[in-house]
Amino acid sequence: MMMKNKICLVTGGSRGIGNGIVKQLSAKGYKVAFTFNEKEKLAQDLESQLNKNGGNVKSFQMSIENRESVVLTLEKIKKYFQSTVSILINNAAISQEKPFNTITDRDWELMLKVNLQGPFICLQEALPDMIKNQWGRIINITSIGGQWGGYNQVHYAASKASLINLTQSIAKIYSKEGITSNAVAIGLANTDMSGAELDSVEGKKKVENIPIGRIGTIEEIANVVEFLCSDGSTYITGQTINVNGGMYFG
Ligand SMILES: NC(=O)c1ccc[n+]([C@@H]2O[C@H](COP(=O)([O-])OP(=O)(O)OC[C@H]3O[C@@H](n4cnc5c(N)ncnc54)[C@H](OP(=O)(O)O)[C@@H]3O)[C@@H](O)[C@H]2O)c1
Repeated sequence: MMMKNKICLVTGGSRGIGNGIVKQLSAKGYKVAFTFNEKEKLAQDLESQLNKNGGNVKSFQMSIENRESVVLTLEKIKKYFQSTVSILINNAAISQEKPFNTITDRDWELMLKVNLQGPFICLQEALPDMIKNQWGRIINITSIGGQWGGYNQVHYAASKASLINLTQSIAKIYSKEGITSNAVAIGLANTDMSGAELDSVEGKKKVENIPIGRIGTIEEIANVVEFLCSDGSTYITGQTINVNGGMYFG
């Protein structure tokens, strides 16, 4: 199967949605490099679980906002898999719930640094090999907050809106090089990131208003990401695919 030759890099695969994406891609026969920031044990558990089941998966510590760390990790991936990354899934991110008028300059800077500069650095460092091979897939994980704003996480929403725009620019510049660039905009799924929101009164109201009537599963999100990696998606680029149960139509 052709996919076996493709190496994916999933940032933030230790937990949550990234973890589900790693599992799905491994099950479909991809070689998967994935990263963690601090949760090494979780990453190692996932790696050994998948490799026991016939996967070819390897985890690496990488701080996405630190260019040296990204460069070093890409070198390690090349050495380990004897090949370069063809599919980049920018999934790692942080969030912070805070009323707008209490967001500090430091909060704002950190949010934009991790959620926007991180993907920017990963893109700049991973794209040259994709250009050389005239084949690549970029999938940026964004949020409904980046499409309709946020009440309690304005800086997070702004970072995710910018990621959609970055996705479009990369599609404009690189699609002729055989590289597609798309975003997946998630509504709500149950992870460490969304736990507090889902437990809150506003969060419960939000869920009640989802046309499908429930939050998404991690598998439902991973399925769409996997489709965007596959040869079924060759004519899709610059798009934001909404995986939100109908919360937002666009
Ligand atoms: N959950 C939702 O409802 C929801 C909704 C909309 C969009 N999203 C988006 O979906 C993506 C995944 O979210 P999630 O809910 O799965 O989050 P999560 O459970 O909090 O997991 C975050 C992942 O990112 C990694 N990470 C955090 N900061 C990092 C940094 N500075 N450098 C490198 N890696 C870092 C974490 O590594 P460690 O484990 O080592 O800390 C972890 O693997 C994010 O882009 C998020 O914005 C989620």
